[in-house]
Amino acid sequence: MLDKKRSAMNTKIIVVKNSQTEKNKIVIPSKIISSGGLVAFPTETVYGLGADAFNKKAIKQIFKVKGRPQDNPLIVHISDISQIDQLSEKIPKKAEKLIAKFWPGPLTIVLKKKKKVPLIVTAGLDSVAIRMPSNKIALELIKQSKTPIVAPSANISGKPSPTTANHVKEDLFEKVDCIIDGGSCKIGIESTVIDFTSKTPTILRPGYITKEDIEKIIGNTEIYTQKKNKKIRSPGMKYRHYSPRAFVIMIDYKKDFKKELEKILKTYKDKKIGIISFNLNIYYKSKNIIVKNLKSDPKKYAQKLFYYFRDFDNKNVDLIIVQGIKEKELGLAVMNRLKKATSKFL
Ligand code: TXA
Ligand code: MG
Repeated sequence: MLDKKRSAMNTKIIVVKNSQTEKNKIVIPSKIISSGGLVAFPTETVYGLGADAFNKKAIKQIFKVKGRPQDNPLIVHISDISQIDQLSEKIPKKAEKLIAKFWPGPLTIVLKKKKKVPLIVTAGLDSVAIRMPSNKIALELIKQSKTPIVAPSANISGKPSPTTANHVKEDLFEKVDCIIDGGSCKIGIESTVIDFTSKTPTILRPGYITKEDIEKIIGNTEIYTQKKNKKIRSPGMKYRHYSPRAFVIMIDYKKDFKKELEKILKTYKDKKIGIISFNLNIYYKSKNIIVKNLKSDPKKYAQKLFYYFRDFDNKNVDLIIVQGIKEKELGLAVMNRLKKATSKFL
């Protein structure tokens, strides 16, 4: 709905504090979706930028306002399991088991697509990614819109995913019709994406639901690694993502974090520096050094990672130093995001 003559549009901001008692606040945003507009909304992972999954024109607009590469497919969000029928022919048994265990929740399932799913949704692939979020506002929006909703993260492509409505405003104010402010996202990183179109179920993007969680339900599961000269299966994973403006240095978890930190601080004396420490309680009495201590909590790392990156950028930090963690369980998803933002590994 953004035309060339009008460079800015009026973005409605709707604050929802209680998703149970304020369902009437979703009436306007759902009408915007059904009439082909764009609505940013909270999910339990990150904020999404939504459009009617069957409206090609609206979906085109999503790619345009995000500056998203055309070959990166979108996730279709549903509020009721029966909506899968509109999107995919049949659900493999193992996928059914994961759905029973983890939906609604931060798990996206890739299945063979039905013909009627527009190719712009799947970037030309013959598979479609589907997720039922657990956030009540998201579910209500999908329900009242009476259609599945495609939603990539509601950020400008390449920037850290938004975990508050303010983050969405920073990137998309006056570019979308409506932003629903439902507070901070509980999980903070995007959903796990698992592909059921190959012989062995394959995790294409690690997330809050871990390989270990999944294998407990369906047994052997692979984690996708890009093989040379082979077509990438999850196009979104090839792009440099999640990047704050500042230069990011990651210190390997096996190294002495404090010692490495001191060396870097000596080298960059005149710079403004942001530090994310996982397992040490660090304190500096300098207004040029901002420290975030995570107290060894990987869930907090996931929840706050993008938030801290954006906060450092807003405070004009020149250099961010992050402490890496072990790449197992939730650590795998956290490291996947950290590595994509990092310019130098120590
Ligand atoms: O938590 C989330 O998943 C959030 C919230 C808003 O739901 N959404 C999100 O969307 O992260 P996006 O567009 O930023 O990332 C979608 C990922 C990309 O890596 C994309 O390549 C992959 O899902 N994807 C989508 N459709 C696919 C398909 N048919 N086959 C393989 N990968 C697919
Ligand atoms: Mg994204």
